[in-house]
Formats: sequence, C-alpha cells, structure tokens
Amino acid sequence: MSLHDRTFLVTGAGSGIGRAVARRLFDEGARVALVGRRAGALHETAGGAEDGQALVHPADLARPAAATAAVQAALEHFGRLDGLVNNAGLARFGPLADADPVDLNAMLDVNLLAPVHLIRAALPALRASGGCVVNVSSVGGALAMPDRAVYGASKAALNSLTRSLARELAPLVRVNAVLPGPVDTPMYDDLGLAPEQVARLRDAMVESTPLGRFGTPDEVAPWVCRLLDPEAAGWVTGALIPVDGGRTS
Ligand SMILES: NC(=O)c1ccc[n+]([C@@H]2O[C@H](COP(=O)([O-])OP(=O)(O)OC[C@H]3O[C@@H](n4cnc5c(N)ncnc54)[C@H](OP(=O)(O)O)[C@@H]3O)[C@@H](O)[C@H]2O)c1
Repeated sequence: MSLHDRTFLVTGAGSGIGRAVARRLFDEGARVALVGRRAGALHETAGGAEDGQALVHPADLARPAAATAAVQAALEHFGRLDGLVNNAGLARFGPLADADPVDLNAMLDVNLLAPVHLIRAALPALRASGGCVVNVSSVGGALAMPDRAVYGASKAALNSLTRSLARELAPLVRVNAVLPGPVDTPMYDDLGLAPEQVARLRDAMVESTPLGRFGTPDEVAPWVCRLLDPEAAGWVTGALIPVDGGRTS
C-alpha cells in the first residue's frame, strides 16, 4: 500500500470500524487525526501508534463548527491532509411512531450533516493534495429498513452525497463509500433497544446474511484503506462498495 507518510482524518476513531481503520493506517506508516467524543477511547486507539503518528482531537460532530475545527486542528498539526474517513455514526432503532425526535435529528446530524461539513472544510486541503474521501455508509442505505427508517434514510443520503460529490469534485478529489453489513461493534450496545430486542435483531441479521455471521471491524478496515490508497484506487470514484457477507446480493 502507498499510505506511508500520508495524513488522514478518521472520525469515530475511538471504537469499532473507525479504530480498526486508524490502527491499520498506523501500521502502514500513515499519520492520523483521531476524532470522536470520548478522549479516553481516542487515546486508546492512539496507543498503537509511533511518536508523531497520531493526533487526538475530541469533538462532538453533531455541532457543525466542530467539523471545521477538527480539520483545522489536523492541518495545523500535520500540515496536510490526504484523506478523510467519515466513519462516525449513530444508530437508534425502533418504529418511527415511538422514536424520540432528538434521536432522529441526531442521526441526521452525525450520519449525514457531519460528513457534509467535514468534506466542505477539508476540500481546499484535499484539492491541494489530490486526496480523497471515504464515507462509511451501510447496507441500510441500499435496502428497505423497517424500524430503522431514519437510520436507513441517513445512509441512503450519504450514498447519494458520495455519488454526486464524486462527479462534482473530480478529477482532483475521489469520493467513495463502503457499505458494511452487520459488523460486531459497540454500536449494538447503544441502539436504544432492550437487550432481548438486540438479541432478536442480531439473530435476524445473521439469518439474512448469506455468509451466516457478523463481520469484524478488521474485515471492513482493509476496504476503507484500499479506497484511500491512490495506487490501489486512483481510478475509482463514486463507488458504493458493499462489505456485507452477501447481505445485499
Ligand atoms: N456495526 C455495524 O453493523 C454497522 C453496519 C453498517 C454500517 N455501520 C457504520 O459504521 C460506522 C462505525 O460504526 P461502528 O459499527 O464501528 O460502531 P461504534 O463502535 O459505535 O462507532 C461509532 C463511532 O461514532 C462516534 N460518534 C458517534 N456520535 C458522534 C458524535 N456526535 N461526534 C463524534 N463522534 C461520534 C463514536 O465515538 P464517541 O462515542 O466517542 O463519540 C464511535 O466511535 C457508523 O457510521 C455505522 O453507521 C456499522
């Protein structure tokens, strides 16, 4: 991979898929600005890095100003930006009739608007470096999602953003998305559902996944990193790549 000495910003880097992406980037010799709300979790991710490879930047990306500040912090610290990984995400599942409006807004803020503001803030630096964006979307953006309609809609909108911006920002900046199926991460501890509902949901997800199991963050991270790598993916933009155990096949 040609990620060595390149600089990336990864959101949601304190757990799950974001942590696996950041650690893989460190292993490849890249520098990474780690963004998420929990400073302790980000420092734990940075624990796998060499001196000078990591910047920990705690931020609540539900606030639009936080996007600009995160990009500025990365640029001040590292001096350049070769790629942005919009991975931070929020999932609140359940029927729309029972949903808390605060949760609905928060999903749109974190899953859709934060990537919009981050891409906008990072654009001058990405144009200067010939860099790229990888959005971590979901199969939920491609399938009907009863009881998860707004989560699915936020990811469908992220897919649309990916394809439109791929054309708008070409040829200087590539924009792609990875669409994970069910992946074993802390997301399932915080869905706003009772434990027995989560257990039923997990069983149903395995049932509807041809490969018959949850994926792991380490099975998703290589696809994100491959899209970040200009040698591997220099001619790929506007792609929505399912990494889903066959869920959308
Ligand atoms: N796991 C799956 O089955 C699955 C399937 C398809 C797609 N995805 C997508 O994969 C991405 C990563 O999720 P994951 O599965 O790895 O779950 P996760 O471990 O819960 O990761 C989500 C990350 O987003 C960060 N985050 C949430 N709200 C934030 C905010 N307001 N500001 C900044 N950071 C925020 C969290 O960090 P803090 O709490 O520290 O802020 C956390 O590190 C998400 O976009 C998710 O939708 C996951």
